[in-house]
Amino acid sequence: MNRRKDEGSPSGGDMADARSGDGRGTDGRGLDDGEAGDRVLLRGVRPYGEGEPVDLLVAGGRIAEIGTDLSTDADEILHADGAIALPGFVDLHTHLREPGREDAETVETGSVAAALGGYTAVFAMANTDPVADNAVIVEHVWRRGREVGLVDVHPVGAVTVGLKGSELAELGTMARSAAGVRLFSDDGRCVDDPLLMRRALEYTRVFGGVVAQHAEEPRLTVQAQAHEGAQAARLGLTGWPAPAEESIVARDCMLAGHTAGTLHVCHVSTSGTAEFLRWWRSRDSTAAVSAEVTPHHLLLTDELLGNYDPVHKVNPPLRTDADVRALREALADGTVDCVATDHAPHAEQDKDCEWSAARPGMLGLQTALGVVMHTMVEPGLLDWRGVARVMSERPARIAGLADQGRPVAEGEPANLVLVDPGSRWTVRGADLASVSANTPFEGMELPGRIRATMLRGRITAHEGKVERAEMER
Ligand code: DOR
Repeated sequence: MNRRKDEGSPSGGDMADARSGDGRGTDGRGLDDGEAGDRVLLRGVRPYGEGEPVDLLVAGGRIAEIGTDLSTDADEILHADGAIALPGFVDLHTHLREPGREDAETVETGSVAAALGGYTAVFAMANTDPVADNAVIVEHVWRRGREVGLVDVHPVGAVTVGLKGSELAELGTMARSAAGVRLFSDDGRCVDDPLLMRRALEYTRVFGGVVAQHAEEPRLTVQAQAHEGAQAARLGLTGWPAPAEESIVARDCMLAGHTAGTLHVCHVSTSGTAEFLRWWRSRDSTAAVSAEVTPHHLLLTDELLGNYDPVHKVNPPLRTDADVRALREALADGTVDCVATDHAPHAEQDKDCEWSAARPGMLGLQTALGVVMHTMVEPGLLDWRGVARVMSERPARIAGLADQGRPVAEGEPANLVLVDPGSRWTVRGADLASVSANTPFEGMELPGRIRATMLRGRITAHEGKVERAEMER
């Protein structure tokens, strides 16, 4: 797609119509998207939703200038009509299913979903087939991410060989590989052996790695199908009790403290975990422990299980109203650091079956912002600075990404998302970019359309369509 220098400065109107690619500018240089020399002017954005709209001039992959009525000396002008500008979102927990289950998702389709959801970096979980427990696989995923070029794809390395929980994987080799793995997780399974967990925390500490734990004491969740409580009892489903999560979180915090390793707790789902983390952090504010919550655990409860629709099956399971309230509070006060999607695409045959046979997991990349707005912004629990914190800044810092989650300010990398806060859209699984369609938000109206996403100064998504650097030439 060629872009031309913009001639004029159309005042408002739809951003798509106003983009200078349609404007046929004066010099006809036709620069390609994303070249370092491109200058893109984002006209009329509101960083963090604060103050009057300003213009952002992006050049050389950075925010070169912020001001009002900046000159139109740009290769491209995007009229944002007051859209909110935030740092691009960072997802610490994405399942891209490649290699092995490309019938559910690929690095490419997952990258499209991520860019459309406002993400500029995602961490691809290791429970692929084969498992990402060695340098060859993590480098493959990393390379595919770069080839697609819509979002930075950072592979997560498995903690144990084959996710089997009996032998540490080659953590150092994955860290030193081209993929530069920093996050390690057996997600989908818990590293339940305390000695192995201790060794993983000790070893990753040497090179500044983070162990991301799927906290589930497996002996407490044998055959578990739903949150252990009144609803599971009514439905005749084997329960997944809250202490199965809480006991592992408590143990791992203590191991992290003891080893001075760095722990990240995946998908916190119970009020007890939130309470424990609040206490743990209050007694040692330097504790190298962080935690994430998923959008679905901020909104959905086990009340939805009444019709046994496996689209609501997820691990950890949907819990109670009281848990949802506690998780929102924990995210608002910083006890839980960030939102991570646990985007878990599943092929139709793995979801369209009886409850007990269905795989756990739900899509999340394209609905995350809408759910966070609905559950946190609209009730006044987070402002836009807070959204930037939980969806970009904290996850970037946890994962050690220097160029993501940076302020929307002059001189900073132009990894950005533009959000239209007043717009609403209806979720349709079939319209989402993933290969799979297993969204629990089907038919729900969500706020906050993503107007555009920008990765290192190049627009990757705009008005619901991705823009590729290479493929459309
Ligand atoms: O619901 C889930 N699905 N939870 C996990 O931990 C794994 C994930 C998956 O891989 O599908």
